[in-house]
Amino acid sequence: MTNANTGWWMTTLALALGAGTGGWLLAERGEADAAAPDAAAPDAAPDAASDAASTPAAPARPAAWPLTVPDPATIPEGPVGDAVRRGQTLLTRTREELPDHVGNGLHCTSCHLQGGTVANAGPWIGITGVFPEFRPRNAKVNVLQDRVNDCFERSMDGTPLPADSDDMTAIVAYMTWLSRDVPSGVPIEGRGFARIKEPPVPNADTGKALYAQKCVACHGVAGQGLAGAEGAYLFPALWGDGSFNIGAGMARLDTAAAFVRWNMPLGQGGTLTDQEAYDLAAFFTTQPRPDFARKGEDWPNGGKPRDARY
Ligand code: HEC
Ligand code: HEC
Repeated sequence: MTNANTGWWMTTLALALGAGTGGWLLAERGEADAAAPDAAAPDAAPDAASDAASTPAAPARPAAWPLTVPDPATIPEGPVGDAVRRGQTLLTRTREELPDHVGNGLHCTSCHLQGGTVANAGPWIGITGVFPEFRPRNAKVNVLQDRVNDCFERSMDGTPLPADSDDMTAIVAYMTWLSRDVPSGVPIEGRGFARIKEPPVPNADTGKALYAQKCVACHGVAGQGLAGAEGAYLFPALWGDGSFNIGAGMARLDTAAAFVRWNMPLGQGGTLTDQEAYDLAAFFTTQPRPDFARKGEDWPNGGKPRDARY
């Protein structure tokens, strides 16, 4: 790991900040540096593997890997680095950059917070090592590109990117760079949204009242959020035509409650109780939102979760 490019990166970052993207990278720098000893651990693995004949046993594989954000100085020079940065831009400015593929005003990072670097907010760190994965929803082995397109079709209420497009390549390049310090096959700590272990019985009426206290200032009286430039949101919609569709993970009670529990109100994540998170989720996930035309194809062999909307 070298910091030789730091000066160059800071210039690039300043430009990116000017364009409204990438601010989170700078904010995470201190943490990433502090965690360097952890990140150094997996470097031993390739040597051991190449010497397989004389090496008695591979080191035990940890159940989960600590989440550390890679140092932006490790983004390579040249075309691969260009793709990594393009991928970051696509994920943080999805509506503006890919209007043909996004049916609402969201960015991927409206839910995968701070460029996909936050525990319990759908982090993408380590994601390239845990795909392909079997998913009961389509009863297939899914590669990462399939999973990305799932969120395009459902969370973004849009259309899939061609798997061999430069844009998809850039998205995978960014996620691969984010995953550079995580051993293949090991999930990151804080992957997904940490479901609440003992789901309380929710009350949507209480949720409606809580919404008016704690959420309405940013997400609006009709859940419509606040529109910004180029059809994208400053504050994203929670329901209505401009929100995620009923096929999205966020439309499910347990998933939405977990996201809200750890991440909302923005900047005050972790301040709500389990009950409040469930009440809020029961309220906003059952408000009107776009349909998902292919919903009839989901869970063809069973395994439908208890909180599916259809
Ligand atoms: C409305 C919220 C939302 C938006 C916007 C969104 N996603 Fe997701 N995404 C989710 C949820 C919910 C999951 C499932 C997480 C879980 O089950 O724990 C998920 C899962 C994923 C995963 C798999 C994560 C894992 O650990 O297996 C990837 C990759 C992903 N999304 C990429 C994207 C991309 C790329 C975009 C933009 C095109 C996007 N998401 C937009 C909510 C969202
Ligand atoms: C201070 C403003 C603010 C408050 C208050 C707030 N949010 Fe958010 N919320 C945001 C922003 C901004 C995002 C998108 C994050 C980003 O783009 O980095 C977001 C994202 C979300 C998302 C995922 C994206 C989407 O549109 O579905 C959900 C769900 C959500 N908030 C629910 C809530 C709930 C429930 C409350 C009340 C407990 C709440 N928020 C309070 C600003 C806020």
